[in-house]
Amino acid sequence: MTQTPTRSDFDQYMVPNYAPQKAIPVRGEGSRLWDQQGKEYIDFAGGIAVNALGHCHPVLVDALKDQADKLWHLANVYTNEPALKLARSLVERTFADKVYLCNSGGEANEAALKLARRWAYDHHGERKNRIVSFGKSFHGRTFFTVSVGGQPKYSQGFGPVPGGIVHGDFNDLDSVRDLIDADTCAVMVEPMQGEGGIIPADPEFLKGLRELCDANDALLIFDEVQTGVGRTGSLYAYMQYGVAPDILTTAKALGGGFPVGAMLTTDRVAPSLGLGTHGSTYGGNALASAVALAAVEHIDTPEVLEGVAKRHDLFREHLETINRKHGVFKEVRGMGLLIGAEMRPEYEGRAKDILPLAIEEGLMALVAGPNVLRMAPSLVIPEADIAEGMARLERAIARLVADQ
Ligand SMILES: Cc1ncc(COP(=O)(O)O)c(C=O)c1O
Repeated sequence: MTQTPTRSDFDQYMVPNYAPQKAIPVRGEGSRLWDQQGKEYIDFAGGIAVNALGHCHPVLVDALKDQADKLWHLANVYTNEPALKLARSLVERTFADKVYLCNSGGEANEAALKLARRWAYDHHGERKNRIVSFGKSFHGRTFFTVSVGGQPKYSQGFGPVPGGIVHGDFNDLDSVRDLIDADTCAVMVEPMQGEGGIIPADPEFLKGLRELCDANDALLIFDEVQTGVGRTGSLYAYMQYGVAPDILTTAKALGGGFPVGAMLTTDRVAPSLGLGTHGSTYGGNALASAVALAAVEHIDTPEVLEGVAKRHDLFREHLETINRKHGVFKEVRGMGLLIGAEMRPEYEGRAKDILPLAIEEGLMALVAGPNVLRMAPSLVIPEADIAEGMARLERAIARLVADQ
């Protein structure tokens, strides 16, 4: 008989790179979860902007079950119908002409960065290899992506970092003007910084980056791993900004909980990822592609996207009401259902202390850095769950205030 796993098994059997909460959820439905003891939670975390349709949404469950009976995996010596349908669907809905499928956000960004370097090499030669990124940005945990990311703590202690990477200041176009020139191959940016603290780009900043890239024949890469697939209220955030990139990366919500990622690009750029230049055994896996296709088709509808805007307003109203009573937040910001509440100076660094209190009250939330409480719930979270989740959040915050 196998024993029921416990939280202490994590410490015993798993490498210590995470420190999960004590509760172990075993079942989810919509925006509610239940742990091993049957305690119920409202989910404002959404698997860090992954469970865009909540837990076990029937559209995704049906797609998974249907494909599970047909074909799971072939590897890229063959192609498969779900991967082809997904690629076509993404092309038809976006600026892109071509798609590379992979398994995660980090992998999508790794592919984007390699493509940008290779494209510049093909068209301009070896010198044009510099990548411009931004302080506080986050692009994944592969060694290339932590090096491009703007949080040095993630790349320190692992030996020499790849060269040719420079960092400007987010939302500061002048800082980029000083860094970009004919040797720049790409600028990589999140339209809204996620891990860096839920900071939307100014529209003028993204427009300016587009112009600087064009003037220097550099590629503009939008990392929409966290902002993509309806999260901000459009299929991709770039659509709200009216600035199209040359390469876009997407993952997280793309599979609604099934691991999948994609890099989208144009016919001008795609040929540089020629035969044999890059690849992944699981990329374009039939099961993952079938679920992602169902997620994209279900989310990219007026009903879901307009619902995101309505829920954004509700989240803001609730957070402002809580703040009027308890005065803990300096600012509530974000787009769609990626919302950050930055703590006041008196509560500096204490956003993370809210999480265990919220868990005790029956709410799952997130932080983005130590000072910003982050919420990335299901895009279709019912109003009743928002209200109940906020009541639980208020109780957690009242305890934080009492403990200050
Ligand atoms: C903007 C952004 N890019 C890339 C990643 C990395 O994605 P993954 O963890 O799927 O590799 C993340 C994850 O948080 C992210 O927020």
